Amino acid sequence: MHFSFPTLAILGSMPFIVQAQLTGHVGPTTSATDKAAVKTCNVLDYGAVADNTTDVGQPIMDAFTDCASGGLVYVPEGDYLLINWVGLVNGTGVAVQLDGVLYRGSDPGSQGYMFSISDSSDIEFFSSTGKGAIQASGYLYHLQGTRIGPRILSVGGVTDWSVHDLALVDAPMFHFGIGDAYNGEVYNMAIRGGDSGGLDGIDVAGSNIWVHDVMVTNKDECVTIKTGAANILVENIYCNISGGCGMGSLGAGANVTDITYRNVYTWSSNNMYLIKSNGGSGTVSNVLLENFIGHGNAYSLDLNAYWSSMSAAEGDGVYYTNITFSNWTGTEYDGARRAPIFLSCPAEVPCTDITVEEVNIWTEVGDEQTYFCGNAYGTGVCLNEAATPTSYASTITVTSAPSGYSATKMAEDLSSGFGYTLSIPIPTLPASFYPGVTPYSAIAGSS
Ligand SMILES: *[C@@H]1O[C@H](CO)[C@@H](O)[C@H](O)[C@H]1NC(C)=O
Ligand SMILES: *[C@@H]1O[C@H](CO)[C@@H](O)[C@H](O)[C@H]1NC(C)=O
Ligand SMILES: *[C@@H]1O[C@H](CO)[C@@H](O)[C@H](O)[C@H]1NC(C)=O
Ligand SMILES: *[C@@H]1O[C@H](CO)[C@@H](O)[C@H](O)[C@H]1NC(C)=O
Ligand SMILES: *[C@@H]1O[C@H](CO)[C@@H](O)[C@H](O)[C@H]1NC(C)=O
Ligand SMILES: *[C@@H]1O[C@H](CO)[C@@H](O)[C@H](O)[C@H]1NC(C)=O
Repeated sequence: MHFSFPTLAILGSMPFIVQAQLTGHVGPTTSATDKAAVKTCNVLDYGAVADNTTDVGQPIMDAFTDCASGGLVYVPEGDYLLINWVGLVNGTGVAVQLDGVLYRGSDPGSQGYMFSISDSSDIEFFSSTGKGAIQASGYLYHLQGTRIGPRILSVGGVTDWSVHDLALVDAPMFHFGIGDAYNGEVYNMAIRGGDSGGLDGIDVAGSNIWVHDVMVTNKDECVTIKTGAANILVENIYCNISGGCGMGSLGAGANVTDITYRNVYTWSSNNMYLIKSNGGSGTVSNVLLENFIGHGNAYSLDLNAYWSSMSAAEGDGVYYTNITFSNWTGTEYDGARRAPIFLSCPAEVPCTDITVEEVNIWTEVGDEQTYFCGNAYGTGVCLNEAATPTSYASTITVTSAPSGYSATKMAEDLSSGFGYTLSIPIPTLPASFYPGVTPYSAIAGSS
């Protein structure tokens, strides 16, 4: 059997790409081509049929079992029905090439994952054409008024891994959860869900993970850091109508350090970045959020340690220290109604070493906006520079546009979300995820 591998799909998994903020190599240690040379397990040889009727879940698992200790599992182009959910466990030196589309074909009435990868290493899940997708038809749940149901993809207990060039569509609940995962790379992804809360895009915990060139459409988390995260680099993110990127919700024992987001474009979302907690304990440190462009968002720069959408966790508050917001431009929807810079730190545990520099954004509606700081120490806007933090609150009203706020828009910002009562079409991967920036790895199938 002949397989052609676009060179660039393989580039992304080349070892030794190291970016600042990461601690070493990310992604699989062996290329998919090398794995295919060891062995190829084509699901069509394990009972799969691209007729969108026959179950593809068990054939994928059977093919994986045969290739799990070295090989390539291949799902050719075509439409497949996923009845038995896929749990891939204990793989080493294996790649799963999904060039077809998996349609959710069962309703197990649980919140499990349709496709999960666990307890594995040197593992890659990708499409060589950029057309591989999982369509979960979450609207069938949402129509019934529930946001509780299956999630699409999970990576957990995994080292040296990547997920790329795939579309994840219309999750009944979350789209992609990453936890207890190390040395990972996620790139060239399109995630498109219902226009509703509770349908997270990508949630990340673990360490040494590079997430780049990702588009998310939904109305909840775009790419969000969860507790238990260190050395995470997130770049070239397009929240194309979403909740926006963020961190949290954080509760007792929060543990987040060394996080960088760079080149984040946020359109018509709830926030450009939301760090959220209510009570709780632990520390968030060494965070850099730079080169953000926003338009049409409700909130923009938002650190809310009294976030009312979560019930208060035990503790006086999470300690936030050494967090820098740098080079943000664009516009917010209504800056008099919701402060575009909002830093509300715990009264008992003031934030320290917060820097707000070159954050110039202006309101689309009306002619004034406010900045709010509470118990927030550091430099910039309404931050307090005193050496010994005590409790305070300060609001600044701004009545003219800050210089340099103007920023470009993406050419194809979505004009409205997809609602949640109709089937959501599978997206194609965009050519760019941030104005003027080319993806690090060419989109599969683009050349
Ligand atoms: C495949 O089957 C699913 C479930 O019946 C259906 O929702 C989907 O539209 C089908 N896909 C195609 C391309 O026909
Ligand atoms: C995992 O795979 C190895 C071989 O690669 C095998 O020896 C071991 O029994 C497997 N463990 C489980 C839990 O399947
Ligand atoms: C904090 O998270 C890191 C991983 O990012 C982990 O190694 C460490 O054990 C965690 N510490 C606590 C106290 O949970
Ligand atoms: C603050 O965080 C940045 C990363 O954002 C890091 O480079 C720097 O060393 C940290 N500063 C301190 C004092 O830890
Ligand atoms: C600020 O961000 C814009 C893109 O949003 C970028 O073009 C510019 O180079 C950045 N400026 C600095 C000083 O990094
Ligand atoms: C934003 O989303 C809409 C709807 O999915 C899509 O038509 C548009 O192409 C997206 N923008 C880009 C740059 O991909």
